[in-house]
Amino acid sequence: KKVVLAYSGGLDTSIILKWLQDTYGCEVVTFTADLGQGEELEPARAKAEKMGVKQIFIDDLREEFVRDYVFPMFRANALYEGTYLLGTSIARPLIAKRQIEIAKEVGADAVSHGATGKGNDQVRFEVGYYSLKPDIKVIAPWREWDLLSRTKLIEYAEQNGIPVPSTKRGEPPFSMDANLLHISYEGNALEDPWVSPDESMFTRSVSPEKAPDQPTVFELAFEKGNPVAVDGVAMSPAQLLTKLNELGGANGVGRVDLVESRFVGMKSRGVYETPGGTILQVAHRAIESITLDRGELHMKDDMMPRYAELVYNGFWFSPEREALQALVDKTQEYCTGTVKVKLYKGNVTVLGRKSPFSLYDKVIASFEDDKGLYNQADAGGFIKLQALRLRTLGVNRYKLL
Ligand code: ARG
Ligand code: SIN
Repeated sequence: KKVVLAYSGGLDTSIILKWLQDTYGCEVVTFTADLGQGEELEPARAKAEKMGVKQIFIDDLREEFVRDYVFPMFRANALYEGTYLLGTSIARPLIAKRQIEIAKEVGADAVSHGATGKGNDQVRFEVGYYSLKPDIKVIAPWREWDLLSRTKLIEYAEQNGIPVPSTKRGEPPFSMDANLLHISYEGNALEDPWVSPDESMFTRSVSPEKAPDQPTVFELAFEKGNPVAVDGVAMSPAQLLTKLNELGGANGVGRVDLVESRFVGMKSRGVYETPGGTILQVAHRAIESITLDRGELHMKDDMMPRYAELVYNGFWFSPEREALQALVDKTQEYCTGTVKVKLYKGNVTVLGRKSPFSLYDKVIASFEDDKGLYNQADAGGFIKLQALRLRTLGVNRYKLL
């Protein structure tokens, strides 16, 4: 009877809006989220109004996105397959959550999104919907309609009076997804993993070659694992990430080109720009290096790939992600202090780190007089006992004597 559509205002979701109205004969409510994608959102309202939509939601979710999704994930240092900072993955659960809230508010029984049937995003949206409203109906137009080619889509738009921007008439250059954390590019020219992208594709960073010859140095302060200030200036989560994006982008930081394993089974090639996130991960690891005990540090590192996989696969609202989050957050209680960071031609270098809770003990670590806190003679027995089983193997199994 009523469906809430995640609506960007772009060509694809405008077609979906019309298609839902025609195919299901139902009332469509649109929801457009500002996640810092850097686009005007008001045009989406005008477009939706023109298509007869009566309930239009446009929400600025930037602070919630960074505070409750991005920062918790960065406390875990999440990295998928060693390289991907999960910029798209982490935004999907928030969109799903807000969509379900709106569905409840307006009495809708269904939700819809514009993700294709081949990707991860459909899974993330829908797993999110079902975990927050088990009886929700999901309409995924890409899996249902027969508008499977670009030509058919554009024909459909033209037949239905949906304006097609001239840039969209040819093949669109890339499939992109953007928010405050990153921008992603997939498809088209990038589908050959041997072909490198043209420099003109990038929008969030200068190339390292074109970055300034002078480094940028600044201090990033953390409190309980969250970044809170740049050079002593306190900022809200979204402001802070915006600032790191500016600093990183100007210095060519945060470009990656990778092939990843999608949850649905295929390999896919993606290029990402994550300037602020790249700085944040390096700096967070630096503050953890002096404030976390080895036991907790290694424990969370063991868990990290599991955590990253849960985010990638769309299981943000799962008991196991929440359990891992509780473990991670427990380790961040003393993760407070300041990191001095240098950005230079695509690199992020740590110049220094300090904390009121530092576990680094200069006296113990020093090669100078340690005032008896560390007895070097203790190390001999420590090593012999550590080596005992290897010596036993040497004698009994490998017959080394
Ligand atoms: N491959 C990345 C991921 O799965 C990016 C997906 C981009 N999504 C998009 N609709 N263009 O997280
Ligand atoms: C899509 O298929 O809609 C985008 C790519 C993805 O979800 O992985």
